[in-house]
Amino acid sequence: MNVVSTLEQVREQIAAWRRQTLTIGFVPTMGYLHEGHLSLVDEAARQADRIVVSIYVNPTQFDPTEDLDVYPRDFDRDERLCRERGVALLFYPSNETMYTPDHSTWVQEESLTGALCGQSRPTHFRGVTTVVAKLFHIVQPDVAVFGRKDAQQALVIQRMVRDLNIPVSICTVPIVREPDGLAMSSRNRYLTGDQRQRALCLNRSLREAVGLHAQGERSAKCLVNIIREAVRQAEGNLDYVELVSRETLHPLEMVNEPALLAVAAHFGPTRLLDNADLG
Ligand code: PAF
Repeated sequence: MNVVSTLEQVREQIAAWRRQTLTIGFVPTMGYLHEGHLSLVDEAARQADRIVVSIYVNPTQFDPTEDLDVYPRDFDRDERLCRERGVALLFYPSNETMYTPDHSTWVQEESLTGALCGQSRPTHFRGVTTVVAKLFHIVQPDVAVFGRKDAQQALVIQRMVRDLNIPVSICTVPIVREPDGLAMSSRNRYLTGDQRQRALCLNRSLREAVGLHAQGERSAKCLVNIIREAVRQAEGNLDYVELVSRETLHPLEMVNEPALLAVAAHFGPTRLLDNADLG
């Protein structure tokens, strides 16, 4: 595995692969890798000849009050996991490499980012789309893989790629869960034992809602209330729970098109996301 930190090194390696007509699969990450990330790597390996992973904790997608400084990092472990999983190029840039001090150009998706997480994190997606667009320009992959735990992020990136004609196909993979059902996230490590136990209500209540939907329940109010009540009982602090169109993220009153039941809640200071597809 080639471990590099400059744009020139990435471009040199990509050009060499292109000369050999090899295809490139890309998994952008913020590191502190878990099985969820590694499932993205596996999907990239199914779709392309060479896998590129980036590890970069992107400051522009954190609000000043958020956890940028304490975001978990363990480069040596990440490097080992990538090597073991067959990653061919690991890109580990510095802030200076990714952003010049007078950086002043942003990529902003203006429809989907107003919903769900965009309401409580108004600058978050601008940082995500900007850094992902930059990474796409640096790596120039044929395919890039994102996880469905961050369903809104994946949709926003698909929209960006479509709207800006970026020649990459976006592939998404299902949520990977811990044995107890908690959706895998680098932020799970912040949870105390008690907070973690209480956070299990997210997956449990989503399963319950999926079950009710399978039995014919179509009312958004009813399905959303299952999650709301479960979070209340678990003494979580609900950010949102919404049933939205999987295409536009507009709120739905009834499940009469492919829908996303999405929740964000705090357990202690840790904000967790989870979701389920309906319809
Ligand atoms: O999902 C993430 O880890 C980040 O938002 C991403 C896509 C790597 C951009 O920084």
